[in-house]
Amino acid sequence: MSGEIVNNIEIDNISLNVQDSGDDVVDPWTVVSTSQTGVDYDKLIKRFGSSKIDQELLDRFEKVTGKKVHHYLRRGIFFSHRDMHTILTNYESGKPFYLYTGRGPSSSSMHLGHLIPFQLCKWLQEVFNVPLVIQLTDDEKTLWKDISIEEAHKMAYENAKDIIAIGFDVEKTFIFSDLDYIGQCPEFYRNMIRIQKCVTFNQVKGIFGFDDSSVIGKIAFPAVQATPALSTSFPHIFNNKKIPCLIPCAIDQDPYFRMTRDVCPRMGFTKPALLHSKFFPALQGAQTKMSASEANSTIFCSDTPKQLKNKINKHAFSGGQATVEEHRKIGGNADVDIAYQYLRFFLEDDEKLEQIKKDYTSGALLTGELKKILIDLLTPLITEHQKRRAEVTDELLKKFMTPRSLNFS
Ligand code: TRP
Repeated sequence: MSGEIVNNIEIDNISLNVQDSGDDVVDPWTVVSTSQTGVDYDKLIKRFGSSKIDQELLDRFEKVTGKKVHHYLRRGIFFSHRDMHTILTNYESGKPFYLYTGRGPSSSSMHLGHLIPFQLCKWLQEVFNVPLVIQLTDDEKTLWKDISIEEAHKMAYENAKDIIAIGFDVEKTFIFSDLDYIGQCPEFYRNMIRIQKCVTFNQVKGIFGFDDSSVIGKIAFPAVQATPALSTSFPHIFNNKKIPCLIPCAIDQDPYFRMTRDVCPRMGFTKPALLHSKFFPALQGAQTKMSASEANSTIFCSDTPKQLKNKINKHAFSGGQATVEEHRKIGGNADVDIAYQYLRFFLEDDEKLEQIKKDYTSGALLTGELKKILIDLLTPLITEHQKRRAEVTDELLKKFMTPRSLNFS
């Protein structure tokens, strides 16, 4: 869909368009593509000035860690990066780093797409044995949506339970609500102000498309999302030491971190490294990402097995043919088929996945059968997630969210 050109800016010595006429629209609030296969990610790498995660980087990952890389990396679901080679080089010479990611709590349940960056973080945390900080931007959601401070704060805590259910190590993970933590930690607030001192209205206008009628809370917010990339914002974890930071996130969050990377050197910090993921497509097709505000396009972590089954059968866009005869003859198109696309995210077995693609493309596997494979995979996955979430006690939640020292030397 056609967004108009909002602005061109120069930051980090790269000129970028927030919205390009005729191109895919990708920013923190909008993801729309005109193509059935979704956003053109190679184009996005050029437009954003990031680097492709190529075979050489994957080989290095395996060499440095001695582990097979996660299937999200293997399959190009995380497809773009900034400075990942530097993180690996440092790691090889024994220099530590930490992980930072986040979530804007705009619904009390998270959906399947929200899990992706967190699952990669869990894997990275285990493989590299590093601390992880998770920012819940309840402040952001109250500023952008029709949600009160109290509601946003409550949803942050509900989301924290979903995040804990993914399986993070409490000794190495700090989860915080902005509304709570910023008032508790002077060092965080000071870094926020230092960043606000480095960025002009003109710059954020260019990056985020703010205008004269934007509330001032929005204009100041990018500094809030930048601050966790400075290790001194967590004195209880890092003892006021400057430690490099790696941020796994969906590519739509990159504008925040282009700004962060621009200000870091001016404050004596290294630029945070990034790993960017593709979007998790909506049930109706890859033209948009899954969104918590569209119940029919979304599978929530809280859905019942029946809801899950119905949503996939009714709404998942099919790359199959109109009739069985035609399908047997021509075969299906896995590249636009949502059930197949979801399997790429959640079916870890490479050989099985390959066989399913072959069978679907040849017409041997029908749409209904493909959907059933997905339903049978996701049902236990979601049920087990719900079970783990129910086991998160108030005490455990409190522990994750209390500023404290982590298992990190
Ligand atoms: N703005 C993000 C959202 O709306 C939340 C977020 C904060 C985040 N810090 C982050 C996401 C760091 C990824 C990485 O969901």
